[in-house]
Amino acid sequence: MTVVKINALEIPPQAGDEIVKRFTARMNSLTDVAGFEGFELLRPTGDSETRWFVYTRWADQVSYEAWRDGDGARNSHAQPNAEGEAPKPVSMGATLLEFEVEVAADGSGIPSAAG
Ligand code: HEM
Repeated sequence: MTVVKINALEIPPQAGDEIVKRFTARMNSLTDVAGFEGFELLRPTGDSETRWFVYTRWADQVSYEAWRDGDGARNSHAQPNAEGEAPKPVSMGATLLEFEVEVAADGSGIPSAAG
């Protein structure tokens, strides 16, 4: 069953450029991750949502948990340096939103396997 995990990040308005830079620098950590199906960093544009969404899609819950609990998540996130210091987080808070995909279509409008 395909699953979607969205990490909703509270990013101060002036830190938008910095968060884009940090994610861009980590995109090379997503090659060859088993069961990983997609990523989008979503900047809010309307009045109803100010959080940035880190949208991730996985072949199944097991693949997601293997990434989360293994080297995958460590590779995607900032590591402390030799002195044990990590870069200061930009986000002021994070909430994980979790979903299963029930119905899906690709860009052609043709329904695709939901999982
Ligand atoms: C799979 C692709 C992902 C990539 C490439 C990625 C990378 C990043 C990067 C670059 C940041 C910015 C850190 C900063 O503020 O400097 C971040 C923040 C964060 N990510 Fe991810 N992330 C991913 C998925 C996830 C998922 C699924 C979770 C939740 C389980 C998660 C948990 C967090 C948390 C809690 C923060 C905020 C911590 C902080 O402010 O430092 N990430 N992530």
